Amino acid sequence: MSTAATAAGPDSHAIAIAAERRWAWVVIAIMALLVVMMIFTGLHWSAMPPSRVETVDVKTLHLKGEFVESNLGTSVGADGKVTVRLIAQQYSFQPQCIVVPAGVPVTFRGTSTDTIHGFVVGTTNANTMLIPAFVSTFTTTFPKTGEQLMPCHEYCGTGHEAMWARVQVLPAAEFMAKAKPGERLSCVPR
Ligand code: CUA
Repeated sequence: MSTAATAAGPDSHAIAIAAERRWAWVVIAIMALLVVMMIFTGLHWSAMPPSRVETVDVKTLHLKGEFVESNLGTSVGADGKVTVRLIAQQYSFQPQCIVVPAGVPVTFRGTSTDTIHGFVVGTTNANTMLIPAFVSTFTTTFPKTGEQLMPCHEYCGTGHEAMWARVQVLPAAEFMAKAKPGERLSCVPR
């Protein structure tokens, strides 16, 4: 309490200054925290990038290697790992309908044949860009069963708005019953 306080009440000027000073320290602390976070993420990510750089030859994408048509879709490896391989092109995804199990980690591997595309699956955190000559990959788990829309979310040309696929999230047991070793699963009507 300031000595200037009178019998009528506390010295409001001194209280205001104290409050101001307290607030200034809070702001300084927030700024210091943000700077520490920036330094940490900068150093951490430089040591371990969120998606390591993996390249692929666009010219031979359809002819050989991982992204040939017969290898697109969902596969279950010998170790039980679920992988979805897909490509984006103006203006569609292949496959057009992707099937995944619920509650099981699913790894997406995708690339683009022409320009930059991207996708997000419904309201989940499955979200990435697909860039020609690079393989985008991430692993996520779908908690709920049901069908989700998967629109392209990078402007890729006049047909961008019409570029989307569907994702069917099946109960894990139902999915595993459909998955056969060596086969690529999708929900595209044949
Ligand atoms: Cu593909 Cu927008």
